[in-house]
Amino acid sequence: MLEFQVTRSNLHQFRLIETDALSPIQNGEVLVRIERFSFTANNITYGVAGDQLGYWHFFPPHGEDTSEQGILPVWGFAEVIESKSDELPIGDRLYGYFPPAEKLKMRPTNVSKGQFIDGSEHRSKLPPGYNVYRRVEAEPGYNRAIDNHRALLFPLHVTSFCLWDSLQNKDWHNAEQVLVLSASSKTSLGLGFALKEDTNAPHSIGLTSARNAGFVESTNYFDQTLTYDQLEKIDKSKPTVIVDMSGNGDLLGKLHKALGDNLMHCINVGMTHWDEGVQNKDINAEKSEFFFAPGHIQKRLKDWGPQGFAEKSGSFLMKSAQASATWLKVKEVEGLAELETYYPQILDGKFAPEEGLIIKL
Ligand SMILES: NC(=O)c1ccc[n+]([C@@H]2O[C@H](COP(=O)([O-])OP(=O)(O)OC[C@H]3O[C@@H](n4cnc5c(N)ncnc54)[C@H](OP(=O)(O)O)[C@@H]3O)[C@@H](O)[C@H]2O)c1
Repeated sequence: MLEFQVTRSNLHQFRLIETDALSPIQNGEVLVRIERFSFTANNITYGVAGDQLGYWHFFPPHGEDTSEQGILPVWGFAEVIESKSDELPIGDRLYGYFPPAEKLKMRPTNVSKGQFIDGSEHRSKLPPGYNVYRRVEAEPGYNRAIDNHRALLFPLHVTSFCLWDSLQNKDWHNAEQVLVLSASSKTSLGLGFALKEDTNAPHSIGLTSARNAGFVESTNYFDQTLTYDQLEKIDKSKPTVIVDMSGNGDLLGKLHKALGDNLMHCINVGMTHWDEGVQNKDINAEKSEFFFAPGHIQKRLKDWGPQGFAEKSGSFLMKSAQASATWLKVKEVEGLAELETYYPQILDGKFAPEEGLIIKL
């Protein structure tokens, strides 16, 4: 079996290894063959925050000399190829969280017609949302033709939906403008779309690097697009909320300082600029909040019930995926070796934002 591993302390070091270390499945377990998965900056962040948020624990690496190695989880589709579970037959197709590898052993628990939870012991203390797998063939209206868009966008745009939900629920923190940082990321674009759709949303400004500004502007999602070297064009006299996908301490420090009392709130979501450093003395920690989408989802599952959440988020996801189809170019490549080609580009922010990488196995 092939498996893509990185060095936990140095994400620039990676290896694709061939291992036969998967032991036979036991009673209650299944073996799945991973069919395809997406790879974006989000997967890099799983590594950057791997120690802090526990992402290294989902999929322990196989093979030899693994003490320094880690697996970056990915979102995608798989098929059951061996089963010792009474409830999950061979042939079932799944959507969820997988390793960038050819196969995964799982222990289905709480199996219903539409989903199950991987009850493997080492995953029991991890955020529950990541342990849920959808049995896609049982979904009403399931359409295999949108698998790539789903793997690429749904995990990110459900966060965009949660961000919009949180912002409007808090009355936009009394802000008159929303600054979205690292605006060319798919998570930011999903939020831009949500803000555009909401006639009550404040003025939105997408901030991005010069090379990605033309693309962000072309989506027409934000009321205004600015580059990181045009911060002087932001009206600092307006009460402002920041939604940050960049994790760029220097950029955040500059904005917090310039906005002063007009910074109403700052929501820290992502770390696309992971190699820039997150600390800065000018960041106002009291007005900053770390946003964890799985946490927000758990809250809304309680408030709205699973059906209510599925309806509200599902309708947004369909609309945002349809809108994204106008700009998103799916780049589907075959074989795990292709991840060796594209991983460094994604790691270094050199992959075009309008493209979405799908690795098909
Ligand atoms: N907290 C949560 O629950 C949660 C949930 C989902 C996603 N997120 C986070 O949101 C962020 C966006 O993820 P995504 O998958 O949507 O991203 P993506 O679409 O892959 O974003 C690509 C963009 O990120 C920036 N970028 C990426 N790598 C860079 C680098 N090395 N140096 C400088 N810029 C770089 C560039 O944007 P610019 O030029 O515009 O800066 C690039 O166009 C990730 O950090 C992800 O983990 C958080």
